[in-house]
Amino acid sequence: MNDLEINRTPPAFNAILTETNTLGFNMVSEPKVGAFLAVLAASKPGGRLLELGTGTGHGTAWMLSGMDSKSRLDSVDTDASVIAVAQRHLGADRRVIFHIVDGAEFIQRAPKGEFDLIYADAWPGKFTHLDEALALLRPGGIYFIDDLLPQPNWPEGHAPKVPVLIENLERRSEFASVKLGWASGLMLVVRKTAG
Ligand SMILES: C[S@@+](CC[C@H](N)C(=O)[O-])C[C@H]1O[C@@H](n2cnc3c(N)ncnc32)[C@H](O)[C@@H]1O
Repeated sequence: MNDLEINRTPPAFNAILTETNTLGFNMVSEPKVGAFLAVLAASKPGGRLLELGTGTGHGTAWMLSGMDSKSRLDSVDTDASVIAVAQRHLGADRRVIFHIVDGAEFIQRAPKGEFDLIYADAWPGKFTHLDEALALLRPGGIYFIDDLLPQPNWPEGHAPKVPVLIENLERRSEFASVKLGWASGLMLVVRKTAG
């Protein structure tokens, strides 16, 4: 097995990556993370999905590629210039709604127990507002994060925050969790009981 080989990519994959490079957006997720997201999305037929930090829509495209026709995705970003790329390539898909709003505000306004899968890829919902983000998951719901192994684009002072986050997630008895030293470093956290 060669787990670096990714044979199927979403339809908008190449176009999104081309525009991402033109824009110089360096926080894009990697294809292995995308492939993982597609599998998670496919495990939630009719699911309610949330992406915190749309960026240019790389992860969004992968999530949509795994979702069935009844699933719905909310994707949130504060930066209109990057979300515009995602909207251009994925906006025709009626299963996704893009929100140009602060992730913290979105999390605080969303009903608890609403989501089956959260890809937390922005500061709020990961390094802040973690309790509130986890409260949005229904039992069996998956909280997914990446970038847990050192990354070249980490800002100064970021490294010590990562083990604190991991430890915080691992000590929660109402969740099952697993760390994967694969791709950019992943963690899956699944709600066992209602919040
Ligand atoms: C790591 S990137 C997202 C990458 C994207 N998920 C992907 O798969 O390529 C983080 C994104 O979070 C956005 N962001 C930063 N602060 C935010 C906030 N307070 N609320 C929502 N999004 C925020 C940034 O604009 C950036 O696009």
